[in-house]
Amino acid sequence: MSKKVYIESYGCQMNHSDSEIVASILAKDGYTTAATAEEADLVLLNTCSIREKAEYTVMQRINEMNALKAKKRGMKVGVLGCMAERMREDLLEKKKVVDLVVGPDAYRSLPLLLDEVESGQKAVNVLLSREETYAEIEPVRLDSNGVTAFVTIMRGCDNMCAFCVVPFTRGRERSRDPHSIVEECRQLVAKGYKEVTLLGQNVDSYKWTPKDPMANGSGATDFADLLSMVAEVSPALRVRYSTSHPKDMTDKVLAVMTRYANICKYVHLPVQSGSSDVLKRMNRGYSREWYLDRIASIRKHMPGAAISTDIITGFCGETEEDHQQTLSLMEEVRFDMAFMFKYSERPKTLAARKYPDDVPEEVKSRRLQEVIAKLNSTAGDLRRNAVGEERVVLVEGESKRSAEFMYGRDDQYTTVIVPRGSGATEIKAGDFVRVRILSGTSASLKGEVIAVIPHPAAMEPLSIA
Ligand code: SAH
Ligand code: SF4
Ligand code: F3S
Repeated sequence: MSKKVYIESYGCQMNHSDSEIVASILAKDGYTTAATAEEADLVLLNTCSIREKAEYTVMQRINEMNALKAKKRGMKVGVLGCMAERMREDLLEKKKVVDLVVGPDAYRSLPLLLDEVESGQKAVNVLLSREETYAEIEPVRLDSNGVTAFVTIMRGCDNMCAFCVVPFTRGRERSRDPHSIVEECRQLVAKGYKEVTLLGQNVDSYKWTPKDPMANGSGATDFADLLSMVAEVSPALRVRYSTSHPKDMTDKVLAVMTRYANICKYVHLPVQSGSSDVLKRMNRGYSREWYLDRIASIRKHMPGAAISTDIITGFCGETEEDHQQTLSLMEEVRFDMAFMFKYSERPKTLAARKYPDDVPEEVKSRRLQEVIAKLNSTAGDLRRNAVGEERVVLVEGESKRSAEFMYGRDDQYTTVIVPRGSGATEIKAGDFVRVRILSGTSASLKGEVIAVIPHPAAMEPLSIA
């Protein structure tokens, strides 16, 4: 009888993508995936350390899983991902809260570690690697809609932003062989997928140099090259990527984006702060002016592009004037979307060692509310202005509110709700549809379907039999 593993993922898309690699490694070891923890022999929590709250959520969940384990004999609980390093200390030195702790670069050792666990021991591997990219492992798609998939193109990060724990939890930056990336995308197309999102902490520093440069007659592959390789896989495969870094985003990448209709005109470009002083302390490697220049370049290359960002309020030493500069930058850029956070000090980071966490909690909160209000005002305008426009939408599934409607996303990553239709005009998940936008709220759009088309560049509708 096969064993069942239940994997729960926290944190960023890279963690979710890693869980699919873990599922693949465990499938070879005889595990099938379970839909709930209750049905599982092994529960794995793939954890995130980015803010204190993220870690707290996971600690709560570990307690819940242990309560379940107390009732279910033989069930094992393991921790994967970015909290592994710290959980190792808990596991080895303090209370033995879990059976297994495995860091992001050590998933290949899971079968061996599980053998140790089976024999009644606690098992740990949190070694970080300079080479591991899981290049040839074909992920098992979890929670999949069968239409969109994530493909990890690089791991780790070398940037050392002062606030960020990622370089400590995920180690040095390394890029994955472009041919394995293209191959994974081809396989996704063969299985009927219509969209890939290429993932990395800083995709603009993607670089692959073949060991023997003469072997394939070419030199290094940078992110712009990779992006066009993936766009060439099929015109009916829509391509997104995340995350760009303002200090490294090149015009070469923007030029590739304009060249292909199937690359979404959407850039997630985390600014963090609108104040050059704060950016300097954050060790981000760019100023406010540099960031605005990058925005101008995006708008020049792709006037209709959507731009989103990440913002931190209350970083060490942030003054009211600094905060006002963040608000004025938001006003100037008019972001379509943003992830906004209060600064949370993380152990080992440059900021934790060098700067006092000196902005009071209530000031951080108030500034966060102001940043959120600013975003809502500009993003709401953008959506309302979309009324009357035509957009290409990739249908992802049935609307949660009503079976008569389907939802999907346009190029700009905005959710668009359209009527399902019936008979010959019924649309289904995986269809590209041309939609006329009829109304908009701050978060989503509603529209009517004009035609189902074979791929984003097609102007002619699919002929209906
Ligand atoms: N690699 C991406 C971001 C990864 S983390 C980049 O460089 O932009 C995602 C977001 O979490 C960051 O952009 C930042 O806004 C936020 N974040 C990271 N560390 C944080 C911390 N210590 N406190 C609050 N927010 C943080
Ligand atoms: Fe963290 Fe900076 Fe790397 Fe992003 S680029 S993961 S914020 S260190
Ligand atoms: Fe969290 Fe690790 Fe991602 S800390 S945000 S899961 S890289």
